[in-house]
Amino acid sequence: MNKIFPKDFLWGASTSAYQVEGAWNEDGKEPSIQDTMKPFPNTTDFKVTADFYHHYKEDIKMFKELGLKAYRFSIAWTRIITAQGKVNPKGIAFYNNLINELLENGIEPIPTVFHFDLPQSLEEKGGWGNRQTIDRFVEYCKVLFDNYADRVNYWQTINEQNMLVFAGRVLGQKKKSWKEVFQGNHHMLVAQAKVMQLFHEGIYEGKIGPAPNISCVYPKTQKPEDVLAAENMSAFRNWLFLDAAAYGIYNHRAVQILKSLDAMPEITDEDRIVMRENTADFIAFNYYNSTTVEAFPIEAGAEAKKAADQQSGFAIPGYFKPAKNTHLQKTKFSQWSIDPVGLRITANEIYDRYHLPVIITENGLGQEDTLTSDNKVHDDYRIDYLEQHIEQVYLSIQDGVEFIGYCPWSAIDLVSTHEGFKKRYGFIYVNRDEFDLKDLKRYKKDSFYWYQKVIADNGLK
Ligand code: BG6
Repeated sequence: MNKIFPKDFLWGASTSAYQVEGAWNEDGKEPSIQDTMKPFPNTTDFKVTADFYHHYKEDIKMFKELGLKAYRFSIAWTRIITAQGKVNPKGIAFYNNLINELLENGIEPIPTVFHFDLPQSLEEKGGWGNRQTIDRFVEYCKVLFDNYADRVNYWQTINEQNMLVFAGRVLGQKKKSWKEVFQGNHHMLVAQAKVMQLFHEGIYEGKIGPAPNISCVYPKTQKPEDVLAAENMSAFRNWLFLDAAAYGIYNHRAVQILKSLDAMPEITDEDRIVMRENTADFIAFNYYNSTTVEAFPIEAGAEAKKAADQQSGFAIPGYFKPAKNTHLQKTKFSQWSIDPVGLRITANEIYDRYHLPVIITENGLGQEDTLTSDNKVHDDYRIDYLEQHIEQVYLSIQDGVEFIGYCPWSAIDLVSTHEGFKKRYGFIYVNRDEFDLKDLKRYKKDSFYWYQKVIADNGLK
């Protein structure tokens, strides 16, 4: 059966600034927490990555050839504002040129304003734990809107705020108590609401929304206790973040869990009002896999556990703990479960709750690729993964979900958050190894030609 998508569907691809740009200290860019962090064992740092900063014109040419209708990227705060609070004209110029280049090539720019790369200068003042970071974020976003909003239709606020909270250690965050983590999380929620207020009250056109990592949560068994555990996990992992962004409220089950962890943040009356009055226009979400949990009774030795990485489970005594799902296969690289149908469940859950348009801003398979002697990459595993997920996007649209686009991760090879360059996601191969930068030449993978056809056909034929 042909699976044809709505006209104007935004077929895209994604990256983030610190993972793709390189040029970490050029043209006035200052260090972010990603630049100052010690690299994970046997992985490269973020100093050069795919060197998109110097190759963006050539890369956008390839994006055009791929047929992309949209490119989801992030803006590096540290290129735009200095530690002294000054605007850096060269940083402004880079994203101006990038946006113009995309538009000239018929590609819609979809920027995220913050993707894990907090300025080191703010980190030194307490990072998101410091309330003043809210104001710094609003000032930064105003500069972005004033400079670029005339050419942008969809803005995303914070990438995977929920993963910064639950798996912060692999995303550049220092070890913190639950209390500190959730105070910082609250500041991010308020910052997001204030930025949405600024955007909506300004002279800007377009839409703005959050970009969390959302995954449906299955109970291990039919036992009511396990079903309850799955609902509680979903409230804490997913709805805490989306209820705040879309309804401006704290999810009631999440509040109970926060209290059980002694991690309820301080919330002022003004915070509650600003959150309530300023909510999202659309929901961008990243989907890699589903989650499975079981009940976790409070008993001797039961301890809360944070997630090892973005897609792994975590445990809260009295609520839930991770469980194995025997129905799902796992990725070779990180042993993340593969669950295309879970994408359909997740998209429907989001749309049921919020009735806002949705776009997937990340979904993909990280794997080691081999460049053959004739410069080809036969990544049929990636094609399989993406095809199965695109089919579920199609079925979600048939279910009635208002899906505006799909931007898999990633447009081009880049550095993984904590597993280096060898974990590749791109449609375009970048010729470098983990530590040997080689010539950084670009090659089209088999998945490039496959996705090119999907876009040209506007679906799966
Ligand atoms: C998401 C992030 O969590 O997953 C990306 O938004 C990240 O920045 C992607 O790269 C894949 O994860 P990883 O750890 O394989 O890079």
